[in-house]
Amino acid sequence: MMRPAVMILGSGSDLGAELARQYAEREHPVYLLGRDAERLQHLENALGGCRSPQVRGYVCDLLDDERFESVLADLDPFPEIVIVTAGTMTGLEAPTAEAVRELMRINAEAPAIRLEQMMTEFEQRGIQGVLVGVSSLAGERGRRSNYPYGAAKAAFTTYLSGLRHRMFRSGIHVMTVLPGFVQTKMLEGMQTPALLTIGPEEMAARIRLGIEQRRDVVYSGAIWRLIQWVLILLPEWLFKRTNL
Ligand SMILES: NC(=O)c1ccc[n+]([C@@H]2O[C@H](COP(=O)([O-])OP(=O)(O)OC[C@H]3O[C@@H](n4cnc5c(N)ncnc54)[C@H](OP(=O)(O)O)[C@@H]3O)[C@@H](O)[C@H]2O)c1
Repeated sequence: MMRPAVMILGSGSDLGAELARQYAEREHPVYLLGRDAERLQHLENALGGCRSPQVRGYVCDLLDDERFESVLADLDPFPEIVIVTAGTMTGLEAPTAEAVRELMRINAEAPAIRLEQMMTEFEQRGIQGVLVGVSSLAGERGRRSNYPYGAAKAAFTTYLSGLRHRMFRSGIHVMTVLPGFVQTKMLEGMQTPALLTIGPEEMAARIRLGIEQRRDVVYSGAIWRLIQWVLILLPEWLFKRTNL
């Protein structure tokens, strides 16, 4: 029996590419959606030797409604696992109006619109599939170093939680991924503690396991649940004095 098809929105991401590789090796059809044609072609070629019955790349900016519609019309078999890995952290050093707009649009608006659309497709086609959003622990509390990114991820995390609540009785599952530090190009130039940093291979494996087990929330390690609680529980008068 053919394994469920997997669609990765933001396949240009190091995490997305790794998820694509792991699913292709496990014989799932894989659809790659990304903005960079060259990178997609490279990934498609690299995965050509895997055991997947098909790996297809689509150049698609997730903010482009029309393009996304035309990609959906081409998918056969229709995906049953949809994972949004697209995101951006650019522009945080000097959050101009344009930078803040981009951070909100790419980290929150586009992922929410695309998942809402895929949920409707699942409902109309009777697919009890899985919708996955890669958000961030940065969304748990606004911090001076990345608050516009954190604010957008907070919106996405809240969206995912609401969608999960809404779909609970439908058989469609919604999973939130809250990574800490994952060694990808997003962290280039940043020094992160080795003990708290994992590679994209481990993060992708955690996401796959979470999907198999239909988990609600997946982290990049147990320690990050503790960090999440510290972030949430510190009172504001104390939090604003920290160097976090
Ligand atoms: N790395 C970490 O430590 C970490 C921690 C917490 C959360 N996350 C989240 O994990 C996810 C994966 O990130 P990553 O670490 O793998 O970083 P990454 O390699 O920088 O991936 C981000 C990807 O998103 C794509 N993207 C941005 N805007 C897009 C759009 N409008 N349409 C389609 N694709 C778009 C980018 O494509 P282009 O290549 O075309 O720009 C880029 O490939 C992101 O959502 C990120 O916020 C990462």
